[in-house]
Amino acid sequence: MDEEKLEQLVHEADRVVPRPTPKEFFRKQPHKSLENISDYERLYKESIENPDGFFGKMAHKFLSWDRDFDKVSWGSFEQGDVAWFLGGKLNACYNCVDRHAFAHPDKPAIIFEADDEKESRILTFKDLLQQVCQVAELLASWGIKKGDIVAIYLPMTPEALIAMLACVRIGALHSCIFAGFSAGSIKERVFDAHSKVVITCDEGKRGGKITHAKQILNEALKECPEVEKVLVYKRTGNPKVEMVEGRDFWWQKECEQFRGYFPPVPVDSEDPLFILYTSGSTGTPKGVVHCTAGYLLGAAMTTRYVFDLQPEDTLFTAGDVGWITGHTYSLYGPLVLGVPTIVFEGTPAYPDMGRFWKIVEKYKATHFYVAPTALRMLKKSGEAEIDKYDLSSLRTLGSVGEPIASEIWKWYDEKIGHGCCHIADTYWQTESGSHLIAPLAGAVPTKPGAATLPFFGIDAVIIDPQTGKVLEGNDVEGVLAVRSPWPSMARTVYQCHQRFLNAYLRPYPGFYFTGDGAGRDHDGYYWIKGRVDDVVNVSGHRLSTGEIEAVLLESKKVSESAVVGIGDDLTGQAVIAAVQLKDSHLVHDAETMIALRKELRLLVRKVIGPFAAPKSIIIVDDLPKTRSGKIIRRILRKVCSGEAKSIGDTSTMANPHVIVNLVSEVEQQFGVKN
Ligand code: WTA
Repeated sequence: MDEEKLEQLVHEADRVVPRPTPKEFFRKQPHKSLENISDYERLYKESIENPDGFFGKMAHKFLSWDRDFDKVSWGSFEQGDVAWFLGGKLNACYNCVDRHAFAHPDKPAIIFEADDEKESRILTFKDLLQQVCQVAELLASWGIKKGDIVAIYLPMTPEALIAMLACVRIGALHSCIFAGFSAGSIKERVFDAHSKVVITCDEGKRGGKITHAKQILNEALKECPEVEKVLVYKRTGNPKVEMVEGRDFWWQKECEQFRGYFPPVPVDSEDPLFILYTSGSTGTPKGVVHCTAGYLLGAAMTTRYVFDLQPEDTLFTAGDVGWITGHTYSLYGPLVLGVPTIVFEGTPAYPDMGRFWKIVEKYKATHFYVAPTALRMLKKSGEAEIDKYDLSSLRTLGSVGEPIASEIWKWYDEKIGHGCCHIADTYWQTESGSHLIAPLAGAVPTKPGAATLPFFGIDAVIIDPQTGKVLEGNDVEGVLAVRSPWPSMARTVYQCHQRFLNAYLRPYPGFYFTGDGAGRDHDGYYWIKGRVDDVVNVSGHRLSTGEIEAVLLESKKVSESAVVGIGDDLTGQAVIAAVQLKDSHLVHDAETMIALRKELRLLVRKVIGPFAAPKSIIIVDDLPKTRSGKIIRRILRKVCSGEAKSIGDTSTMANPHVIVNLVSEVEQQFGVKN
């Protein structure tokens, strides 16, 4: 490249943000495995036209097998019997730990940044192997065997990852329960999975505060008679934490008796690896089941090709193992590739708004992955901190969990990436296991706010929800579905295959239905619009409105409840609840109304978790209903969003007159004008 062109490019970069030097400018490196979009197009075509050939090759490239597979893919969406790599045997823990510990024992595997910086530590692959083996042997000595489900209720600490790997080492499944969940949600999950063992810690540390993991778990376990043993990691050592004699054991003490090597148990490709509960439109949370080989391959391939994560890199996923992002991109994706993963216990705002950037600088993270909700918060109140840190190690910036507005995308690109990083907006779900639609960093050109193009093997389609027909060509909008199975897709819902079929494979026969609305633009790029069902997404946390409604109905004072998600500048969506009281005379003045709202919010916090508590609760005389008595949430959503004028047809309503009241109640109590 001639000097003049270089000057010009640097000048161009300077215009966007003043900082990059010529060297930094050229950090915006091309993809290391693929050259450009034609490479992507060629491989994508191959993955769709010859999935067996393509994924067979990939499975050999990325995974170590104890026994090679005989058949690459099997089954169909019509039959609901999808399976991959039949006849193969492998162990996920061996793939994530042993093989890297043998090759480079002293390479960092888990970089732990504690809430209190002074407690941070680094575990090498050798350390990880030893600690995982000790817990695996302990679990085995407790009688845990292949196919058992161990519940893990731990905050974002190395122990969460160690516990997960220990389970899969002996062929047991982990069922992680987000540390922000309260007793009611824990009970439901432990009970449904028939877990006999739960792994937790005495207390957690987050944002400078203590969280009470063991105390909350004790409350939940009062109603879980099947739990025989609880393993407790001593994190704070508070002597007041209650241990139940004969049931609860200290992690550190128990592990001391094991030598630090315990052989992995090879399992079949299709043996389940883990379950993870997630919210759907209806009923209780579903225990989504992922299987070993397909899931692991999806994690490995997307981490390598979407993020372009290479052995010398360091990935900082600011997620939580309680959700799928923590499973795939804090644990399995980086470790299966032998790449260090940064595990951060705290929050982006503690001790100040510069915490994320301090971590990036400290460990020279090359990749950073977060939900837009954190970016919105940092843009609003944490900008001043950004320039204090050297972010020049960064190469790829990922976004996950909710749509990223183009304005936030650009801010991420300029303010954090200094115009030098690739921005990867990654669209996927708990059920997909790994990225469905995302740009391959450095190979696929991006557009601010678009998830861009489907990953290898993902035959994405847009369906017209009215006719159920696939909309061909570009410039179309509808619901997003996938035409053929991919390796990392969930196989079933734990103990309820019918629910799996009903939620994903029956709505549009022959297709996997994502539950999201989406558009494909004139270039064939996908833009995700958000859920078309009763799932709300608050700060990237997935919740079902039905679950919150059920909790509100547990109050003796409430006769009906309707919960909706409405747009929110900070959290993406916010939960709004409308409740009808059994006795409307109960609230006769402002004070009792405030007290009742507080009581109901507390109830949701206590049963589900603080993040599910409605932002506002509106007390109404009547809720909009159909003639068959079903609550019409759409109308409530419109009124709460100030869009009552666009409610449209109300002819199917049993009580159209309630709209006028609803509008005035929402205005009085919630301050939204229609
Ligand atoms: C939403 C999180 C837009 C979507 C990985 C999906 C997104 C749900 C994006 C799954 C994105 C996730 N753009 N929307 N990049 N990523 N979603 O199971 O509605 O917690 O169906 O998995 O989050 O949430 P889940």
